[in-house]
Amino acid sequence: MTISRRTALRVIAACVGAGTLTLSAFSVQAEDKKITLGFAQVGAESAWRTANTESVKSAAAEAKINLKFSDAQQKQENQIKAIRSYIAQKVDVIAFSPVVESGWEPVLLEAKAAKIPVILTDRNIDVKDTSLYVTMIGSDFMEEGRRGGHWIADHYKNDKGPVNIAELQGTVGSAPANDRHSGLIEVIKNDPKFKIIASQSGDFTLAGGKQVMEAFIKTYGNKINLVYAHNDDMALGAIQAMEEAGMHPGKDVIVVSFDATKGGFQAMAAGKMNVDVECSPLLGPQLMSAVKDVVAGKPLPKRILTEETVFPMSVAAQTLPTRKY
Ligand code: AHR
Repeated sequence: MTISRRTALRVIAACVGAGTLTLSAFSVQAEDKKITLGFAQVGAESAWRTANTESVKSAAAEAKINLKFSDAQQKQENQIKAIRSYIAQKVDVIAFSPVVESGWEPVLLEAKAAKIPVILTDRNIDVKDTSLYVTMIGSDFMEEGRRGGHWIADHYKNDKGPVNIAELQGTVGSAPANDRHSGLIEVIKNDPKFKIIASQSGDFTLAGGKQVMEAFIKTYGNKINLVYAHNDDMALGAIQAMEEAGMHPGKDVIVVSFDATKGGFQAMAAGKMNVDVECSPLLGPQLMSAVKDVVAGKPLPKRILTEETVFPMSVAAQTLPTRKY
């Protein structure tokens, strides 16, 4: 039976008055004080996202936080609707992983006016007024792009080129797509042997990566020396497309990817992907601890950075059994 907070308090008051306060009356009150977190997820576009959702849900259960969860199916308007509904429901904290970087001011001003703190996870936003959110927990995508770029520069250090790169971009306007592209450019821009001959979004999905790669193969065929995929799902789709076209990914076409999921590791162990730049989706525990701190009025750093590394193909087989996602 569910009873309201007011009814519960009346029951407790009556019990105290009668000297018969019981444990169950206390537990009704304790249940009522649970923190409620509204979490607006991007979608379910990738293995990374599935692991991220699982991490958020299990960490909320572990931390005894009441989680309201929504899936925006990769659409900003759905995320904005979800955030508005969390404001209307007067949740204690709102967290979200923004689909794209821009366009968040109006809804975040509404959250601010309702005095509901907002935490960003995974992806960052582009706003002038950074007081619209408390903290941002997640990876440095620009650094990930640089790491991919440095691996490429090192791999071709004794090669005169040209090195023709086909880039499979993530969701248009998203922080990881923008920054993984910019990080690569920053590293290779002064070496003319590197040429990005094709660049298109596969929306971070396996099907999208495969479709875009099929089109690249039709146009550029054997001219493609390297595939730079913004995530493992698109890289796996591209690998399928190359194999169907009789190409040998990992051998005659170098494959560079991001996330370091089990799928990426399996492709590396099979010799089809050359390097995977790590991006950890296991943000749930850090998020729940930040939620508790915010509710307790504790100060938080504006940026909470995830620690990550780079996995070359040579370590894949031995590391695969220990991968958590
Ligand atoms: O924002 C993180 C990115 O989003 C991951 O690299 C990708 O797999 C996911 O869909």
